[in-house]
Amino acid sequence: MKIGIICGSHRDESQSEKIGRYAAAQLEAQKLCDEVFVYSLAGSPLPFWDEGIWAGEARWDDYAGDLLTALKSCDAFVVVTPEWHGMVPSGLKNLFLVANGDGILAHKPALIISVSGGAGGGTYPIAELRMSSYKNSRICYLPEHLIVRNAGSVFNTDDDSNDQESHTYLHGRLIYCLEMLREYALAFQGIRASGKVTLETYTNGM
Ligand SMILES: Cc1cc2nc3c(=O)[nH]c(=O)nc-3n(C[C@H](O)[C@H](O)[C@H](O)COP(=O)(O)O)c2cc1C
Repeated sequence: MKIGIICGSHRDESQSEKIGRYAAAQLEAQKLCDEVFVYSLAGSPLPFWDEGIWAGEARWDDYAGDLLTALKSCDAFVVVTPEWHGMVPSGLKNLFLVANGDGILAHKPALIISVSGGAGGGTYPIAELRMSSYKNSRICYLPEHLIVRNAGSVFNTDDDSNDQESHTYLHGRLIYCLEMLREYALAFQGIRASGKVTLETYTNGM
């Protein structure tokens, strides 16, 4: 089983990427999957969608071919999104435009982790992803999710930088979420293998 981790912040050295890489390390340490693929939007490596992608222009192969192949090979995802002005960053929304083909995200479970530097943020990106990123991609978000607030004080590799109470609680809850993601991923393999899943007839969701 392969799990893809998408780190949605455009910033270099973001808290979202820190937490995404922490989750990757836990997936490996707990032996919850065979392989982890981490993709970071730091520095905005993915151009904004344009119609050339629908026209099959070769330049889109250069921009995104390797990424789409890697995402296609994943059984499940962790989507880590910061809250930026109460929103999901545009680069992450763009990824959902680009990674929209059959077999890339469709009918694969995903855990949302939302990240806020403050004490009260992190809710809006969860609502936004649940409302607007699944319709055509057919990604399937777990009902469980993780909101990380005061992100600078948890999930640090230097344990002295962690607020021990928050870190211990969120670490335990992250492991629970990742264990659930694995169970969903196992079950969803059966759904994708059922022969019933195709985006040919109903390419776009209603
Ligand atoms: C452009 C921008 C807008 C932000 N807006 C919010 C916000 O609306 N709510 C919030 O809780 N934090 C906000 N933050 C702070 C982030 O939550 C904080 O940077 C956190 O570390 C997650 O972002 P990161 O993954 O880019 O580090 C904002 C940060 C940036 C760069």
